[in-house]
Amino acid sequence: MSTYRIVSLPGDGIGTEVITEGRRAADAAIAAVGRSIDWVEYDWSCETYRTTGRMMPEDGIDRVRDANAIYLGAVGSPGVPDHISLWGMLIPLRRELDLYANVRPVRLMPGVPSPLANRSPEEVDFVVVRENVEGEYSAIGGRMYDGTEHEAAYQQAVFTRRGCDRIMDYAFALAADRRAAGKGGKVTSATKSNGIVHTMPFWDERFEAARGRHPNAETDQFHIDILCARFVTNPDWFDVVVGSNLFGDILSDLGPAVSGSIGIAPSANIDPTGRNPSMFEPVHGSAPDIAGRGVANPIAAVWTASMMLDHLGEAEAAALIEGAMETVLAMPEGRTRDLGGRASTRSCGDAVVRAIEAA
Ligand code: NAD
Ligand code: IPM
Ligand code: MN
Repeated sequence: MSTYRIVSLPGDGIGTEVITEGRRAADAAIAAVGRSIDWVEYDWSCETYRTTGRMMPEDGIDRVRDANAIYLGAVGSPGVPDHISLWGMLIPLRRELDLYANVRPVRLMPGVPSPLANRSPEEVDFVVVRENVEGEYSAIGGRMYDGTEHEAAYQQAVFTRRGCDRIMDYAFALAADRRAAGKGGKVTSATKSNGIVHTMPFWDERFEAARGRHPNAETDQFHIDILCARFVTNPDWFDVVVGSNLFGDILSDLGPAVSGSIGIAPSANIDPTGRNPSMFEPVHGSAPDIAGRGVANPIAAVWTASMMLDHLGEAEAAALIEGAMETVLAMPEGRTRDLGGRASTRSCGDAVVRAIEAA
């Protein structure tokens, strides 16, 4: 029997509530295929920061490096500035492990109410592939002339040839896999190349070069502004959408909003070379406005756990979770408040585990 060693980092707010349910789903599914998970949990969070002055220990990255995967809830807590919680934990994990491919699927699930009228699940099924370690989220920036009438803030976006090429190749490979599985197989580039944003003509050049490396792929591109509009008016046009760090961030909250709720959106931060453990986390944050009330939707964390098992080669266990999740979402009593239901985090998680065990 094989056992996976997975580092669990519940973090702050609803992170701790949803990770509990995601772990139960993962344990039930992996047990059903005769294997197990050895969870190693660290309480790194804003609470740790308040008591120790650090979000995670100095050797935090080394402590997670030899795990099979990392499963993270969310970080962020009122009273601790976001730049401290994010630069102190989430961003170093993504960067120092070089998890450059952020994969964020969007699907309209059967029975889930969507703000889009008359759309069926087959019409909303795409993946945002977000560049995860450079671009607009560069570390080069700061403030000048503080406290004077000239005070200013600046940030230098950095797009490298290597960074663009590898995320685009990842998107093309994913599209080829999806085509082989009977899905669209098109790659859409999110750009803004009408000469105003200097980095985007470079992004387009690299996309053109990627098209050359993948001559059989179908492609298109949209400026980010109209692309946001098309996610709402024509979600059926998309299959794999590749975007920079900031554009991908925005698109990956917009997609789930039109397909139901941010409360169901999963994400994988992948190191495609396999040298480092990949990290799996819901798209949403710590949601301080509902934290501690037991009402958060755990499905994003549950679906994220399914992506994690799939990444570990446990396709059967991953499919068990995905099937259970669809069963629960299709039942009105399975849905939490963000989807118009009344289920609690725990009762939704219970229903997922029951559906896995019944499969
Ligand atoms: P958020 O995603 O935490 O919340 C946005 C809105 O969506 C809130 O109204 C919240 O109640 C709702 N929501 C989010 N997840 C939900 C769920 N599972 N079920 C039901 N409703 C849900 O984003 P925010 O408010 O912009 O950020 C709050 C904090 O989280 C900030 O400190 C931010 O920096 C942090 N954050 C962390 C991560 C991360 O660690 N990966 C991601 C995003 C935001
Ligand atoms: C996400 C979050 C993070 C991001 C924040 C919290 C830094 O919004 O994972 O989407 O922008 O990457
Ligand atoms: Mn985001």
